Amino acid sequence: MGHSILKAQNLSKVVPSAEGELTILHELSLDLHKGDSLAIVGASGSGKSTLLGLLAGLDLPSAGAVTLAGRDLSQLDEDQRARVRAEHVGFVFQSFQLLDSLNALENVMLPLELDGRADARDIARSLLERVGLGKRLTHSPRQLSGGEQQRVAIARAFAAEPDVLFADEPTGNLDSHTGERISDLLFELNKERGTTLVLVTHDERLAHRCRRLIRLDAGRLVGPLEP
Ligand SMILES: Nc1ncnc2c1ncn2[C@@H]1O[C@H](COP(=O)(O)OP(=O)(O)OP(=O)(O)O)[C@@H](O)[C@H]1O
Ligand SMILES: [Mg+2]
Repeated sequence: MGHSILKAQNLSKVVPSAEGELTILHELSLDLHKGDSLAIVGASGSGKSTLLGLLAGLDLPSAGAVTLAGRDLSQLDEDQRARVRAEHVGFVFQSFQLLDSLNALENVMLPLELDGRADARDIARSLLERVGLGKRLTHSPRQLSGGEQQRVAIARAFAAEPDVLFADEPTGNLDSHTGERISDLLFELNKERGTTLVLVTHDERLAHRCRRLIRLDAGRLVGPLEP
């Protein structure tokens, strides 16, 4: 029996809308152990990104609780949640959220520098090489294609060696060959470092490489927890 790294209990998210309150996530529970991999699948608008944001402590649920690395996120203020994220979490957003004023190398170096790592540059360079961008180190995000920006975002998320890596459509903008390479890299990390993976994906192959799979339908969990 592994150690619980991420636990959600009866998570709900209700948002205001013109027609009154809209429930976009209904009482969802799950429990992941160190080294687990989870795919979250479902149609557009089913609540996948919402769930990811709640699990990573970027957003707060309307009801229910998330325990990440032993901390109950609902008991923490925003600064404390940010600290738990910095220490334990890597996140690859659906929109990549790279800093335009920094080049590719600097974007990946940033979390390492914040962590006080003297070898930030070397680690960042080798991660960019692993995602196939060794020749794009000094390009700014604007000078990169969508798939290249996505790979920089993935390298940046890897940089801080998170306990849990959340990724929203990590292969969404990539051709199948590059997508496969990125999947390989995710699972290497999972294996080498015991990084827990939580992936939102429409990519069937990637979803089925995960040990567990959940499907959302209009904010409700449907289907089995095992692929
Ligand atoms: N802050 C908000 N206010 C109102 N509605 C919201 C809010 N955030 C999300 N929604 C709605 O909740 C639903 C779920 O959104 P979410 O972004 O989680 O979907 P998704 O499964 O990630 O979809 P996609 O595959 O298109 O990325 C959508 O219908 C969306 O319009
Ligand atoms: Mg989404």
